[in-house]
Amino acid sequence: MSTNEIQVKRISNSRLSEIDFDNLTFGEQFSDHQFELRYSDGKWQNPEIIPYGQIPLYPAVATLHYGQAVFEGMKAFCYRDDEVNIFRIDDHYDRFRRSCERVCIPEVPKEYFVGGMKELVRTDKEWVPKAKFKSLYIRPIVFAADQTLGLRASKTYRFYIICSPVGNYYSEGINPIRLTTMPQYVRAVQGGVGDVKVPGNYAASLKPTTEAQQKGFTQVLWLDAKEHRYVEEVGSMNIFFQIGNTLVTPPINGSILPGITRMSVLELAKSHGMKVEERPVSIDELISLHQQGELREIFGAGTAAVISPVGMIQHNEHQITVSSNEMGPVARWFYDRITGIQHGDIADEKAWCTIV
Ligand SMILES: Cc1ncc(COP(=O)(O)O)c(C=O)c1O
Repeated sequence: MSTNEIQVKRISNSRLSEIDFDNLTFGEQFSDHQFELRYSDGKWQNPEIIPYGQIPLYPAVATLHYGQAVFEGMKAFCYRDDEVNIFRIDDHYDRFRRSCERVCIPEVPKEYFVGGMKELVRTDKEWVPKAKFKSLYIRPIVFAADQTLGLRASKTYRFYIICSPVGNYYSEGINPIRLTTMPQYVRAVQGGVGDVKVPGNYAASLKPTTEAQQKGFTQVLWLDAKEHRYVEEVGSMNIFFQIGNTLVTPPINGSILPGITRMSVLELAKSHGMKVEERPVSIDELISLHQQGELREIFGAGTAAVISPVGMIQHNEHQITVSSNEMGPVARWFYDRITGIQHGDIADEKAWCTIV
């Protein structure tokens, strides 16, 4: 697809002046335009950039009933002085494609995903926050558009990309998060859909997360569905442990979402000669490592916060506490490294950045 295949209908009055870039919240304000693409008669067609706005839907639209939908979450950053970088666009596309495949959504061709996103970000370039560590969050979403209550894969789909300027996750300082296991709930099972980005996973996490928050915790530490022993993820982030001088993370096993930030952490660690292990980590192992003083740091990794230090984990009557009130040196190194590459302060040796 050449970009001149995309119809661009620009907004007549930009809403940019209404945005307080010093006080951005997460995902509540949206840029001037959206990208739209439709699937019917066996093909994706009509790529358009149109003003951000409502999309009329019938109540019988299949996605509302059976959740045949997929989304992604990624970011564009101001890069050096006046450029814009979309971070790891190819890897996000690969995960999006795999997610679509799992729920029988026809593959959105890469040229539409990448071409549409670049053109949209170019169109709304002024919406990319200029300040360091702020970004334009990009949300691609595809959903079943047939009107039917019959349970079957839809024959028509809509694909949208919307953008939201978001603030520095750590503007108020870094508060290590407090986690609890919730052994009565599971996030995902092997063979299910926990390793892809489908909306139902997030709906299913709301009740356990709400209960954890009512007890004063920030997030749930998800354990495996079979033995309720092995650590999988934290909230909607992947998890890392600094054990002695080894960085450890659970392996991608079919029920963990393969995070792009997780990939970045692992690739950086390996290329800087750190000792890395992808292996199962049980909660009992963590308790005994903590007792032996071998558990140095715990942190989550995901697009929203980049790196989020974990201060404590509650599991039944056990409490694992790891850091004081700040990010540990290992977590800090990854945070500085990744954000440095995203903003162009550190050389992009691995070709993670796409300048639009
Ligand atoms: C369940 C889950 N795990 C992990 C992640 C981290 O993935 P990424 O680094 O690609 O944002 C996310 C966020 O997308 C998530 O929703």
